[in-house]
Amino acid sequence: MIGADHAGFELKELLLKPLSAQGVRWKDVGTFSSESVDYPDFAFKVAQAVSKGRATFGLLICGTGIGMSITANRLSGVRAALCNDLYTARMARAHNNANILALGSRVVGFGLAQAIVQTFMETTFEKGRHLRRIKKMDGGCS
Ligand code: RB5
Repeated sequence: MIGADHAGFELKELLLKPLSAQGVRWKDVGTFSSESVDYPDFAFKVAQAVSKGRATFGLLICGTGIGMSITANRLSGVRAALCNDLYTARMARAHNNANILALGSRVVGFGLAQAIVQTFMETTFEKGRHLRRIKKMDGGCS
C-alpha cells in the first residue's frame, strides 16, 4: 500500500510505474494531485492497513519523510523507517524488519528513491538477535 501528501505526489506517481512493470501489487490511497493536504491522513491509511495485516508493506512519501514516519509509528505493530539512502534501507529490513518505508521527496531524487524502494523490497529480515530486539519494542519499558 502506498500513500503520499502533496509534496510526495509526484514521486509517488513516478515510483508506481516501475513497480507496476515489475508486477508488484499495490494499492494507492492518494493523494492524487499536488493540491495541499495533511500527511497524517495518508500515513494513517497505510499504517492502519499494515497494523491490521491488510498490507504486508507500506510506502509513504512526504517532503522529508519525517511526518509520515512519525505518524505511522504511532500504530501498533508498525515499524516505519525513514530511509533516504541505500544502507539505511537495507538495515531497516535486515535488522529492524521495517514494514513501512518512508521517503522524503525533497531529499532524494527519483533514481535514488527507486533504488531505495528496490533495496527495501529485496532485503530480508535476519531474525536471530534482531527478532529478540523487535519483540522488546512491543513489550514496552520494564
Ligand atoms: C509539507 O510541506 C511538508 O511539511 C510535508 O510534506 C512533510 O515534509 C512533513 O513531514
